Amino acid sequence: MVAAAQFGSDFEDVVRARLDVIEDRLFAAAEASTPMVTEAARWIMSAGGKRFRPMLVVLASQFGPDHESEDVVKAAVVVELTHVASLYHDDVMDDADRRRGALSAHQKWQNSVAIMVGDFLFARASAIVSELGTEAVRIQAETFARLVQGQIAETVGPADDADPLQHHLDVVADKTASLISTSALLGAKVAGADTATQQAMAEFGEQIGTVFQLSDDIIDITSDDTGKAPGTDLRERVPTLPTLLVRQAGRPEDAELLALMDGDLSDDAVLARAIGLLRQHPAIDQARAEVVRRAERTRTMLADLPAIPARDALAELCTTVVSRTS
Ligand code: FPP
Ligand code: MG
Repeated sequence: MVAAAQFGSDFEDVVRARLDVIEDRLFAAAEASTPMVTEAARWIMSAGGKRFRPMLVVLASQFGPDHESEDVVKAAVVVELTHVASLYHDDVMDDADRRRGALSAHQKWQNSVAIMVGDFLFARASAIVSELGTEAVRIQAETFARLVQGQIAETVGPADDADPLQHHLDVVADKTASLISTSALLGAKVAGADTATQQAMAEFGEQIGTVFQLSDDIIDITSDDTGKAPGTDLRERVPTLPTLLVRQAGRPEDAELLALMDGDLSDDAVLARAIGLLRQHPAIDQARAEVVRRAERTRTMLADLPAIPARDALAELCTTVVSRTS
């Protein structure tokens, strides 16, 4: 996902060097007072991950004069620690067995340990963001509030009179796009970019963040190669764009799929049948088309930014975020 790869070696080297430092700092930030907590706190980050948010911080920072500042590294560590912290909680809430190809933390230890480790990482993110000033702390706190509210809204579902699709898009914006927007905003901000550029980065991040999550939800159904158990959302009856489109279509020939979606999917063979039917459904192509349309619209948001290699890399991200298969 290093979209910078094709944009000339100097720029690529700068981005890679930054990401290498960020990687080391992430592991350092996860060090705890006991080896057991350190191991648990490094568990999800050790298993891999795309480091999409640190990449956005680094790319957005290129639009400011202070892009070599140490604060860029700190901002990237803050957003990735926050993201990883949220995954510990998310896997408990989703009852997910695997994450990034590894056993999920609550399976390896227990729910309460996984939840506390998430809190520990969030505490570490909070300490580092305090070094970036009160405005960064405020942004981080508001992002945290959106993450949590998005996750709650997903859990409780839409009100009876609400549009389920709009509810889902609001959930996606809060639980995922918020932190991706903050990544781009903080990158631009700590590098000293002007207010208009910070605003442009925040809006770009909000949109690509939504594309990222909608795309992730499609891949969760269509790929066996995500490092997660396929169909987790389906099993937990978490609505996603494809399943919402199936419901909206209301085709008579979907009776079996709809019954499965509303039934007990705890049995692996029954879940596999539901995934198989969903993979063949036109809703998958419709969802993909919607994601591509949104990605193209997001790319146009970059038009007024200076034509530097980081802008090309951000444009390239709009392609890779929808073309990835895992
Ligand atoms: C993954 O969603 C989860 C999120 C995008 C955010 C979850 C937020 C919380 C649990 C709030 C708590 C936050 C902190 C910082 C402690 P997903 O289940 O759709 O994605 P997945 O397929 O990767 O599991
Ligand atoms: Mg999940």
